[in-house]
Amino acid sequence: MRIFVLTGAGISAESGLGTFRDKAGTGIWARFDPMKLATPEGFARDPEAVHAFYNTRRRNLLAAEPNEAHFALARLEAGLAERSGMLTLVTQNIDDLHERAGSRNVVHMHGELLKSRCAACDSVVDWRQDLSLEDQCEACGETGHLRPHVVWFGEMPLALDQIYGALAASDLFVAIGTSGTVYPAAGFVAQARALGIATCEINLEPSDDARLFDECRYGPASETVPAWVQDMLRQG
Ligand code: APR
Repeated sequence: MRIFVLTGAGISAESGLGTFRDKAGTGIWARFDPMKLATPEGFARDPEAVHAFYNTRRRNLLAAEPNEAHFALARLEAGLAERSGMLTLVTQNIDDLHERAGSRNVVHMHGELLKSRCAACDSVVDWRQDLSLEDQCEACGETGHLRPHVVWFGEMPLALDQIYGALAASDLFVAIGTSGTVYPAAGFVAQARALGIATCEINLEPSDDARLFDECRYGPASETVPAWVQDMLRQG
């Protein structure tokens, strides 16, 4: 069985990391302006504000822990491998909670908060402390060019060729904890359906594209994902 899982902010919500859009209007983008803090133009206009925004999120991440949903996906990866199956785990999240829960192959299509990228030489390195314009790039020695290794609005997500190849080769597409509002990730379910691939949505509540999914499971990810993984591994 080859399963393609796409995760979004909802899988990390119970680890204390915020989601971006929710009906209560308390999401990150209800409190912060994404055009000022998550675009190349916003970074060029006010880099200090962007660094402060991501420095706060980086500190929150370092204080957070994976939840039962992250651990369940790590069990699924190992369990499928034992059965000559395969899990492709693609996340829209920039946190490292999948890796800390034991997932070994994670594709971060929107980048990683615990890495920095040099806009002068493109080198990407692990970065766990605050980041500022004063920091120097270890590779090229330039100062003032380091940014979070995060894909901003208007920028191309990472590893899309690998992602579409894995999606086309899968037997089941599962979206977990995502509102399905940001492309290209939001288009994966339609791509899967066009290829005759079964689809499943696991979320707190129906996403806007719920009608596109063959199977739906709703509730907190820390409960719904372990139950779903147990069912998948029981199928053998
Ligand atoms: N368990 C499961 N799902 C949850 C939980 C939970 N405990 N809490 C919230 N959710 C669901 C919400 O119902 C919502 O559908 O998670 C989803 C989160 O949606 P968004 O906040 O829009 O996050 P996401 O879909 O990951 O956003 C995609 O938008 O701003 C960009 O780059 C950012 O990667 C992000 C992208």
